[in-house]
Amino acid sequence: MKTIARFDDHNIHEIESRLDIVEFISETVNLSRKGNNYWGLCPFHQEKTPSFSVNRDKQMYYCFGCHAGGNIFSYLMKKDGLEFKEAVEVLAAKAGIEIIHGEEKKTTDQRRQIIAVNNAATQYYQDMLLGPKGKNARDYLERRGIIPDIISSFKLGYALDEWNGIEEYLLKKGFNAEIVKLSGLIKRSEYQNRYYDLFRNRIIFPIFQYRQDVVGFGGRSLGDSLPKYLNTAETELFSKRKNLYGLYQARESIREANAAYLVEGYMDCMKLQQSGLKNVVASLGTALTEDQARLLRRYTEKAIVLYDGDEAGQRETMRAITILGGAKLKVEAVSLPAGKDPDEYIDIYGKEGFLQYIQNNKFSDIEFKLNRYLTAVPTLDLNAKISIINTLKNDITGLESAIERDFYTKLLAQKLRVEENIVFQELHSRHNNHLVGQKRNNIEILRDNNKYGKYGIQEKILAAMLKDNEVYNTVKKRIGIKFFANPDYQTLVDAFDQLQGDPVKKIYDIRSFAFTEGLDAVYARVAMLIDEVNPNEAREVEEFIRRVELKKEDAQWQKVFTQLDILSDRGDFDSILTFILKLDRLTNATREGGIQ
Ligand code: CTP
Ligand code: MN
Repeated sequence: MKTIARFDDHNIHEIESRLDIVEFISETVNLSRKGNNYWGLCPFHQEKTPSFSVNRDKQMYYCFGCHAGGNIFSYLMKKDGLEFKEAVEVLAAKAGIEIIHGEEKKTTDQRRQIIAVNNAATQYYQDMLLGPKGKNARDYLERRGIIPDIISSFKLGYALDEWNGIEEYLLKKGFNAEIVKLSGLIKRSEYQNRYYDLFRNRIIFPIFQYRQDVVGFGGRSLGDSLPKYLNTAETELFSKRKNLYGLYQARESIREANAAYLVEGYMDCMKLQQSGLKNVVASLGTALTEDQARLLRRYTEKAIVLYDGDEAGQRETMRAITILGGAKLKVEAVSLPAGKDPDEYIDIYGKEGFLQYIQNNKFSDIEFKLNRYLTAVPTLDLNAKISIINTLKNDITGLESAIERDFYTKLLAQKLRVEENIVFQELHSRHNNHLVGQKRNNIEILRDNNKYGKYGIQEKILAAMLKDNEVYNTVKKRIGIKFFANPDYQTLVDAFDQLQGDPVKKIYDIRSFAFTEGLDAVYARVAMLIDEVNPNEAREVEEFIRRVELKKEDAQWQKVFTQLDILSDRGDFDSILTFILKLDRLTNATREGGIQ
């Protein structure tokens, strides 16, 4: 019998590789084979015709009826209501792998040692930043407008452009080689039996846990070299999903204000803290998680979401509002102008300008949602009005204070141009309760229409991209990868883009990424599609790319027309001339097939 001691990715893989999801599910569900998949009646919802599918190659399951999906672990967790660790134990036993118990002490001990390594590394990186070889890094931080106070309170550092700097330092300090490996600061070479530093020529952001422990690191490249950010790999000790950057530095201000601003990036967080908005934390770029929301709730009753104003940022804001609300936080949100993160806004308009902007553009969660629905509906017709009222119904009727309920009823009446007492009746009618209880995304009117068994174009594109490297590269080259309307797909693609290694490894890695991010059902759905993507789809991909390109061209021309309007009103000869020259360049570029 094989023995393992920890729940790391490798061990999980080991367990999985010894089991077969089709066999496992067959123990409780009657499956029959049809094409690449096995089908049966879904154990997670009532149904008469099978919409539950299991795929042997992918070792995933997905139900087209209730959208449950994932790997063998998530299946068991859902079926028996188990925690991940419990599911691992059950499946390990099935796979003939024994998990060593009574090791708790050893793991706490190990945890402590890894933290000691991280603390030493933090000191080393700090020394490097301030030392003679850190000039470039110091200049970089200065250019980004980060002041020395912040450098020291966030313990920023610099990893030299060397392959074994941190490794040599830590070993010389006497740290156990095994622990140094576990810290993730060094990585095993894929080709040789040796290790190299994970972070090279990068600004280092230590990530503190609520106590002063450094549990992991982020590293940013100094220039445009990619990937822009690297992070310590997910381990039992470190998970991006469970931490909030800057919380350690901000915790007192947050308690004092009984409110916390939530931003996306490292830079945003530091920039705001140094601009005097001290109660701010960052979600470390992952889509905000329930763990993070609960963590924040321990410090404050109110969260103010402050994401980029572009479409993706707005969607993430909607998601964050739901998650924060779920953790019983009172939520507000600010929309920044599109394409600006807080850091960039401050650089342009200064800190006064920024603080002013926040004051003027802060909305309650309900108002934010309302505004978004209003801009999302093509026309504010009868159906749109009814559906908006119904979508906000639970939010409004669930408010404790009668004054608040009254306020939003009036607001709806005003914005929808409907009599107030009619809005009131609609809010309190018992019909249309079908919207209640949609957990992940209760925005019926904005939902993808992923009907039973029917895939949308976005999913097809995603599947084609994951399946075929060539498709991936073509799409990326021509329209980039930031076009998914569904934030979950966007998260998967972004992660996929950061992954390295051969296609087989990437597919495995993205699968475990999806699992740790809680996106396994989403991934399972797409994975089921991967087999089915065929040359026919290739044409759809091409058409899709063309459509996006055309949209971009349209947007460019729209700009031209607006400019023309302005100029014809009050343009002098010189500016008209410059404009015409620019226009000439634009038309030429278009003729050659693409503007960007
Ligand atoms: N992030 C990450 N890993 C990546 C990309 C992003 O961890 N590969 C996280 C970082 O915490 C980053 C945040 O997501 O700060 C937001 O990403 P992005 O908007 O791309 O970067 P900025 O924070 O704006 O970074 P900068 O201003 O330095 O360009
Ligand atoms: Mn930025």
